[in-house]
Amino acid sequence: MANTAPAASRAESGDPSFAELIAARPHLSLHALDGLVVEEVPLARIAAVAGTPAWVYSAGTLRRRARSLRAALAGAGLSASVHYAVKANTNLAVLRVLAGEGLGADVVSEGGLRAARAAGIPASAIVFSGVGKTEREMRLALAEDILQINAESAEEIEALSALAAGMGRVARVALRVNPDVDAGTHAKITTGRSENKFGVAIADAPGLYARMAALPGIEPVGVAVHIGSQITSGMAPYRAAYTRLAELVRALRAAGLPVLRVDCGGGLGIPYRDEPAPLPEALAGAIKATLGDLGLPVMLEPGRWIAGPAGVLLASVVMQKQGAERRFLVLDAAMNDLIRPAMYEAWHGILPVSPVAAVAPQGPADVVGPVCETGDTFARGRALPMLQPGELVAFLDAGAYGAVMSSTYNMRPLAAEVLVDGARFAVVRDRQDVAALLAGQRLPHWLAEGAP
Ligand code: LLP
Repeated sequence: MANTAPAASRAESGDPSFAELIAARPHLSLHALDGLVVEEVPLARIAAVAGTPAWVYSAGTLRRRARSLRAALAGAGLSASVHYAVKANTNLAVLRVLAGEGLGADVVSEGGLRAARAAGIPASAIVFSGVGKTEREMRLALAEDILQINAESAEEIEALSALAAGMGRVARVALRVNPDVDAGTHAKITTGRSENKFGVAIADAPGLYARMAALPGIEPVGVAVHIGSQITSGMAPYRAAYTRLAELVRALRAAGLPVLRVDCGGGLGIPYRDEPAPLPEALAGAIKATLGDLGLPVMLEPGRWIAGPAGVLLASVVMQKQGAERRFLVLDAAMNDLIRPAMYEAWHGILPVSPVAAVAPQGPADVVGPVCETGDTFARGRALPMLQPGELVAFLDAGAYGAVMSSTYNMRPLAAEVLVDGARFAVVRDRQDVAALLAGQRLPHWLAEGAP
């Protein structure tokens, strides 16, 4: 298959060209006959089998990114373990690929814990994070004897102690602190400022840690931070947070309290458009520089960095509609599928799949879904060719916080999910059908009887 050169020039908007978007993503290529290809599988073939909208994940990309992250940590001389944040993409096939790479998991719900276990991630590699673990979830974590529970409040520590003692278990607990650092990311996904709900104030941490050491059923194992997600502003916020964490560890040690490891959280950003996103080597260097002297193993909880670039959302054009002021490209995917643009004003690359469309003249279009909200807009004034009904487009970097944030709003069933692995592909989650949306609903008897 010969490569075709798509329109190379940058659009007037300053957006990267199709060619630039493809070149920056090693698993994507454009072929003269097959159009846009993921690994070795044309997206058009996947659409023919799985229909649209469909999420398509590249197993090779997941593996490559898992390996390069671990290599960066090892290269900095760190003893580190990676616990993939399963909330970013909980598809069992995705988890299985990452389990095969030896990654552990960071979970925040019973569902996440069960999914990680079902995919073959051992309990001994699972961390349970989250600001509101229910009693049922804490019991499950204790029964499974997972590696670590990250506690976020005095209340949670007391509850965990009572439950663990009652079950005859010991909870290995890390204390999540809120370092009061601004990660410089979108307000909805910044987590490390004192006004946010997450973690305990660093000033309260020594007292709480000592309390953990004194309580039955609790073994304090370390400290944790997570300052936010899609961090692209360089290493300064990480360094600030980790420096405070290192000071805390020294204070705990000085007080004779045991600290076995440090959980550095997730948050590493990816270039959706052409942001200068930091590389894992930079993060590894920041960890080494700030926490390296402690001589402790570190943990990382990346979600987006691993899974984001590995996925696309494949959609079909329903129609091209000429509005009074602009051209609308109406797709069969909507905000209920990919909510990131509506929720965070996120920019996702949008590529036509057909080899002809990829090199055709472009003009501005608003890319929208069929949902009855103006917020159901994926992009405004995006440079795209004319596209006929039934033609395919791919949203890039939709592997993290894509399918997992879908809803069935507008009675739209959840889309199918597909895993590509070299020249093979498989539907790894069936498209939901409308019957499934209606199943489980029932009328109360007083409405069911007789005519409406
Ligand atoms: N650890 C904890 C405690 C977290 O809360 C998160 C993400 C992670 C790790 C993984 O962060 P990552 O490496 O993926 O940045 N829905 C948003 C992102 C929400 C992130 C929530 N917490 C989005 O689509 O941008």
